[in-house]
Amino acid sequence: MRDGTINLAGVSTAYEGSDRPVIRDISFTITPGEFVVVGGPNGAGKTTLLETVNGMLPITRGRATVCGLDVASRGYEIRRRVGYVIQNFAFDPLAPFTVRDVVMMGRYGLLGYGRRPGEEDRKIAREVMALLGIEDLAGRPIGKLSGGQQQKVLIAQSLVKRPDVLLLDEPFSNLDLGTRDFICGVLDGIADEGCTIMMVSHAFDALPDREVRVLVMNDGHLIFNRPCRADEVEDHVRTLSGGHHA
Ligand SMILES: Nc1ncnc2c1ncn2[C@@H]1O[C@H](COP(=O)(O)OP(=O)(O)OP(=O)(O)O)[C@@H](O)[C@H]1O
Ligand SMILES: [Mg+2]
Repeated sequence: MRDGTINLAGVSTAYEGSDRPVIRDISFTITPGEFVVVGGPNGAGKTTLLETVNGMLPITRGRATVCGLDVASRGYEIRRRVGYVIQNFAFDPLAPFTVRDVVMMGRYGLLGYGRRPGEEDRKIAREVMALLGIEDLAGRPIGKLSGGQQQKVLIAQSLVKRPDVLLLDEPFSNLDLGTRDFICGVLDGIADEGCTIMMVSHAFDALPDREVRVLVMNDGHLIFNRPCRADEVEDHVRTLSGGHHA
């Protein structure tokens, strides 16, 4: 059963080795299949928020649950059910993996230690590569692809987990407009299937044509949380970020 609910109640998180919380007193509820866009200026705490949801940071106050699981104690299980596409990841040009290998890595955590992918895993990988239009790249070395192609591969790697929640941190940062629109359409379809999408983005011209929930972070605080039509999002974020949201 899919349950991509995300609930934070008064949550603060700090990075390990620091007492000072980076995000403070955050509360919100996101229901399964919602499409959430997270905005706010550089350093506001957007990535920290995604890492909190993915159970990667110590929670210093409050309580968080993801997929009905307590983030503080069930992080490992949560990460099996959450896909996370990190910000600005680039492969070493000499990385000895093909696109197919990298996509398949998304299945390994579900298989268990030492298990090898089987026919079902290969089938899912083929389906997801076709969905993202990268099936022709399957045998290519990952490090020799363009940034945009690598980004699609990383999204595919998260999608083969068949996640309940998909977290994406600025997935459009080096994509052309056509590719952004294409990926938006893919994400729209994934949300329709019931996967919760939480995406940090400054590319408000590339959003699916549906109601999205907008969260705006500023200086570690959540300062805006409201469902909006996609075409209203840019105005809201711009106003709230003081006209500057690099
Ligand atoms: N590993 C870390 N250890 C300690 N502090 C960190 C770490 N990563 C980020 N921070 C601090 O946490 C704050 C929020 O950073 P975060 O990366 O969440 O911002 P962001 O909103 O994602 O910014 P950007 O738009 O630049 O990606 C910043 O003040 C940053 O310096
Ligand atoms: Mg960030």
